[in-house]
Amino acid sequence: MVTSENLLRDRLGWRRMFVVTVLVLLSVTSVISVNRDNFKTCDQSGFCKRHRAMQPGSSPYVVLMDTLKVMGTSVEVQLVNRKNNIRLLLQVSAVKDNSARVKINEMDPIKKRYEIPVGDALVGEPKLQDMKVLDRSDKSITLGFEDNKILISSEPFRIDFINKEEPIISINTQALLKFEHYRKKDSPQGWIEGVTSWFSDRFRAEEQAPPGEEGENKEDEEKKEEENVEEEKKEEHKEEEEPSMWEETYKSFPDSKPHGPSSVGVDISFPGFEHVYGIPEHADSMALKTTKSTDPYRLFNLDVFEYELYNPMALYGSVPVMLAHNEKRTVGIFWHNAAETWIDISSNTADKNFFSKIADIVKGGSNEIPQTDTRWISESGVIDVFVMLGPSAHDVFYQYAQLTGTTNLPPLFAVSYHQCRWNYNDQDDVKNVDAMLDQYDIPYDVIWLDIEHTDGKKYFTWDNDKFSKPEEMINNVASKGRKMVTIVDPHLKRDDNYQEYREARDKGYMVKNKDGNDYDGWCWPGSSSWPDFSNPEVRKWWASKFHYEDYQGSTPDLFTWNDMNEPSVFNGPEITFHKDVLHHEGIENRDLHNMYGFYVQQATAEGQLLRSDNKERPFVLTRAFFAGSQRFGAVWTGDNMAEWGHLKIANPMLLSLNLAGITLSGADVGGFFKNPDTELLTRWYQAAAFQPYFRAHAHIDTKRREPYLQPEENMKIIRNAIRARYSYLPFWYTLFYDGETKGVPPMRPLWVEYPTDKDTFSMDDEFLIGSSLLVKPITEAGQTGTQVYFPGEGQVWYDVETFRPYPGKQTTYVEAPLSKIPVFQRGGSIVPRKLRIRRSSSLMVHDPFTLIVCLDRKGAAKGSLYIDDYHTFNYRQGEYLLRDFSFDQNEFRSQSGDQFGKFTTKEWLEKIVVVGLRTEPTKAVLKVKGEESSLQWEYNSQYGQLIIRKPGVNIASDFSIKLT
Ligand code: NOJ
Repeated sequence: MVTSENLLRDRLGWRRMFVVTVLVLLSVTSVISVNRDNFKTCDQSGFCKRHRAMQPGSSPYVVLMDTLKVMGTSVEVQLVNRKNNIRLLLQVSAVKDNSARVKINEMDPIKKRYEIPVGDALVGEPKLQDMKVLDRSDKSITLGFEDNKILISSEPFRIDFINKEEPIISINTQALLKFEHYRKKDSPQGWIEGVTSWFSDRFRAEEQAPPGEEGENKEDEEKKEEENVEEEKKEEHKEEEEPSMWEETYKSFPDSKPHGPSSVGVDISFPGFEHVYGIPEHADSMALKTTKSTDPYRLFNLDVFEYELYNPMALYGSVPVMLAHNEKRTVGIFWHNAAETWIDISSNTADKNFFSKIADIVKGGSNEIPQTDTRWISESGVIDVFVMLGPSAHDVFYQYAQLTGTTNLPPLFAVSYHQCRWNYNDQDDVKNVDAMLDQYDIPYDVIWLDIEHTDGKKYFTWDNDKFSKPEEMINNVASKGRKMVTIVDPHLKRDDNYQEYREARDKGYMVKNKDGNDYDGWCWPGSSSWPDFSNPEVRKWWASKFHYEDYQGSTPDLFTWNDMNEPSVFNGPEITFHKDVLHHEGIENRDLHNMYGFYVQQATAEGQLLRSDNKERPFVLTRAFFAGSQRFGAVWTGDNMAEWGHLKIANPMLLSLNLAGITLSGADVGGFFKNPDTELLTRWYQAAAFQPYFRAHAHIDTKRREPYLQPEENMKIIRNAIRARYSYLPFWYTLFYDGETKGVPPMRPLWVEYPTDKDTFSMDDEFLIGSSLLVKPITEAGQTGTQVYFPGEGQVWYDVETFRPYPGKQTTYVEAPLSKIPVFQRGGSIVPRKLRIRRSSSLMVHDPFTLIVCLDRKGAAKGSLYIDDYHTFNYRQGEYLLRDFSFDQNEFRSQSGDQFGKFTTKEWLEKIVVVGLRTEPTKAVLKVKGEESSLQWEYNSQYGQLIIRKPGVNIASDFSIKLT
């Protein structure tokens, strides 16, 4: 790396510098694009290859129906592998709110298989509900709950979820279940035992079978069967001898695999569904593609330098959640497994094979019913699948939220604009950027410090020359209601004089090599070790480091950025931990790899809670994540590039994250690597101003690009985009409240709100914010207009600047010169805004609201507004306000949205803008507590726009405005 070179050189000396440079050049940087050689393909990953080699129909499992136990909310039954007699335990339970859980584990493992502790990805033990046994025979059992049936068939083993006679999700219909049991090395016993027992089972079965009518063919059949058995024996033998099972070398990195093969995999089909979504993080389209001629989608948290677009390679985070949607319903699955996971997808009628035609068979043989087949393969752990049965997308969000939690309501500053760069050089630089943004009237809430602010990349410290007065610096920023963020990465420099390192080492808190010594790898500081965040005690210790006395120079206005937490290890295999490194209780990284970054963010968020005595909401941005990370803060999409393609891909990437619960997410504005031209930068600000998390960031090698450095015209456009963001903060904040309570993402694909409109199913270049705003960012150079699809038959959409109406269920060309962001408000919605823009969001907290009421064709609209103190947890004690607004039959009403929230505020209502009002009223009468008064207005007949000035009421009051 060219730039950090100087910095590193000073500190490490030439020889070490050479090593670092080579390593970094080899693994972390290149000037062109991703170095694919650094990352495994499925073929280079033994377990993935073994699973993929298995053909449909080859799984040897059957259900032993006589072992069935029915227990109210669940059933338990054994599965046996007919080839080796290894038994598995299948548990199927009905989970509250229309979900189910399917778990498959080894019956008697020689070593306990890893399961993610309850309370980590899952917020708690899922709440179960009763199931009824609807039917039972020696071949199958049918269970019922809510309006679903679960059919477990014994031979071949499969599970079908059926809703009103329609199969909607099926497990193991292609018979791809493969469960590599733990075994002892050097013991061919496994397969010998297996084959012997297979023979004896077979023999017994034949003895018991009634004599066949076609006796003359019996000999032939027997011969054939013997041949088959020989074949299978060979296959089993081959599988047992696969060298990658006991050790594997990738490039020069050996993986010792002390416990041998341990992978699990099964197919999950979605009959009737053509579209599946989710399983972030990939730089790919929102609608997932078939992987017939590519690698499977990979989930393995990795620091992928200069990632490529439109491919299934793994990235920084993993959420093994997939949604399937068709015109009738949305369903989802959550694969609760933290090991490296690969997901194959085959879709459409064309890809169907004999085993997968579920709906066709049930519905009578037509081949027209679409279907998506997926296959999930994890390196270790157990099969633990949550099946979320919808039936709407909102239901699936709620069902998933019950399992892994929701994005906690962020403090208001978190959804405002963040100014970041690697690096703001010193405290004067920070002061200057802060002042320049003020000088140019550009609002911002948070200024960030990257790794160079530390003393030699030792986190929790400051470079004493450049940041000699951190508190003063933070307080200066905070005097305008702003915050600061410093980066705190999980690698600790192996330096005896570094307190955090010393403590973690002495307490035995570090992740260990397979030989039991502290793991030693390279990252920014050079030689480093990594605390074992999977250990709750270590998390507690880490959290304590955020106390103000421990983190010298920090203040309540300082928040945190966790980077490199996949973790990134410059000299590790695939730039991460060796898989055989050990966490507490001897758990290998192989088992929990995808959770490491989750735990880092969790511990950091806990630190912030601790330092404020649980009063203030934390804010932590993380690069690596897993299912449930939404509970601890924000996520960004890592090191993107200042290229139009990267601006474009931010939409699908953020949509996928939002669908999988990671809702406070964004992409580096401007692109991290390279220098964006002014047009790209301008368009990027415009797009990000309408995405959930809004932060500008840039690589240390790039030219400074703060908004005020842009040519005046661009500066003004960027400023307008940021101001637009601030004006919509009440709307975003309300959406995040809905998110915390219902799990619904603020950024939504169109199909979530227009579930029957097939045209929207793979649309990912435009999106909705809540259900009220439609955004179509401009993502191509030189574009001065764009085709916008307006969803909703009979609906009308209004341009938010001009109020020009556009009819729904129609694609229309919309002019979009550089100054224009194509954003439209749905007729029928009321959106709260604040139009007095100040330097930061906290300076706007007492400012009045403007309500934008866009009428539908019937002249009605609805909306809501959530308010609290914008930063503490007091809202959880009822200190909040939820207001419901409606407009109908020429009357606007504001009412309390629930009976629980009680909060007093100075915020008041300054203006109501009604759009789409066909005739100008002659009177506008405000009624508050029985008192009536007349209001002034302006009317513009072009788009029926009525501006009611100064209702002046406190936003907490119930009132109405009648137009006559
Ligand atoms: C990698 C991160 O992705 C990037 O955002 C950051 O600036 C660098 N690490 C340096 O900390």
